[in-house]
Amino acid sequence: MNTYKIAILPGDGTGPEVVNEGIKVLQAAASKFDFKLETETFDFGGDRYLATGEVLPENASEELRQFDAIYLGAIGHPDVRPGILEKGILLRLRFELDQYINLRPVVLYPGVETPLADKKPEDIDYVVVRENTGGLYTGIGGISMKDTPHEMAVQSMVYNRHQVERCIRYAFEYVRRRHNSDNPWNGLYDSDKGAGKIGQLTLCGKTNVLTYAFDLWERVFYQVAEEYPDVKTDYCHVDATCMWMVKNPEWFDVIVTCNMFGDIITDLGAITQGGMGIAAGGNINPEGVGMFEPIGGSAPKYTGKGIINPLAAIACGAMMLDELGETEASVRVTEAIKTVTAEKLHSMSAGRMGYSTSEVGDLVASLV
Ligand code: IPM
Ligand code: MN
Repeated sequence: MNTYKIAILPGDGTGPEVVNEGIKVLQAAASKFDFKLETETFDFGGDRYLATGEVLPENASEELRQFDAIYLGAIGHPDVRPGILEKGILLRLRFELDQYINLRPVVLYPGVETPLADKKPEDIDYVVVRENTGGLYTGIGGISMKDTPHEMAVQSMVYNRHQVERCIRYAFEYVRRRHNSDNPWNGLYDSDKGAGKIGQLTLCGKTNVLTYAFDLWERVFYQVAEEYPDVKTDYCHVDATCMWMVKNPEWFDVIVTCNMFGDIITDLGAITQGGMGIAAGGNINPEGVGMFEPIGGSAPKYTGKGIINPLAAIACGAMMLDELGETEASVRVTEAIKTVTAEKLHSMSAGRMGYSTSEVGDLVASLV
C-alpha cells in the first residue's frame, strides 16, 4: 500500500475549517482506494507570528521538502500588515521549494451559478498555467530619494530563458496529458476539451508594450511549440484575454502566462467559475514537492462560524491526489464535488450553501 506524507498548513482565518473538510475527504479517498496518508500539522500563520515574532522558521522549507505534498488552508491575518505573511510564508515557500508552476483550473461545476450570462459548464473548462517564481514577484527593484518630490520606485519584471522555457514546456506537456486518449479524466467534464480532442495552448502576454520580457516569452513559446506539432498554438494579449475570458471562455483550453498576469487573470477566472469558494490551485515543482491551496484568502469575517465553503480546499485535495499519482481517487473526488454542486448546494457563498462547512465535507466524503 502506498503511504504519502502530507504536511498540513491550516494557516489563518477560515483556513483550518476548510482544511479539516479537505482532510476528511482525502481520508475517505484513502480508505476507498487503498493508500495511506500520514499527516503532520504546522502552525505557520498570523497567530504564530503575533505570538513569536517569527514568520517562518529558518529550516521550514528544508523540513517541508521531506513530505510528498503540502496542503495549505489560507494565509492572511487582519492584525498583521499586508505583505508580511504573504511574502514571508506563501511566496517564500513557493520560491524556496522552487514551485515554478501555479496550476489553476477554471471549471464551472454543474449547478454552480456563473456571472457570465448564458455560459454553461461546457463553456467554462480551461486551465491557467501561471509561472510562479519569477517576474515581478522576484522583488527586484528599490526606492530612492524616498519622501522627496523626486522619489523613484522600480520593480522589475525579470525573466531568464530557463524560467520561461521550463514553464512553457510544462504547459505543452500539460496540454498533451489533458488530451491523451488514455486520460482517466475523459468524460469527466461537460466540454469537448477532454481526451482525444486537439489541445490548444494560448500564450497570454503583452508583446505590444512589454517588448523585452514578452519578446523572450514569445520566441521561446514558438521554439518549444515546434516539438509539439500535436498542440495548436495561439497568442492573446493579457487585456484581450480578460475580455475573452468573460465573453468567450469556451475558446480557451490551456493558457500559459507570467506570474503577475497569471495572478490577475485567475481571480477573474475564479469569479466566472462561481467564486473563491470553489476555485482551487496548486503550486507545483514537477521535480519536487507541491503545495495545494484554495485561491481564496483567509476570509477572517467568517472565521469559526462553520459557514465557509470548503469545496475549493476539497478540490485542491483532488489536485494533490492527481499529482501524487492517485489519479483514480482524484477523479472520484472531483465527481463527488460535481454531484454535490449539482444536487445539493444552494449557493457557493459562505452562509448561503444550505449546509454548514462540515456538512459539505460529509456530503463529498460520503460520495467518494
Ligand atoms: C495568489 C495570491 C498571492 C499571489 C498573494 C497572497 C501573495 O493572490 O496566490 O494568487 O499574488 O500570488
Ligand atoms: Mn492572487
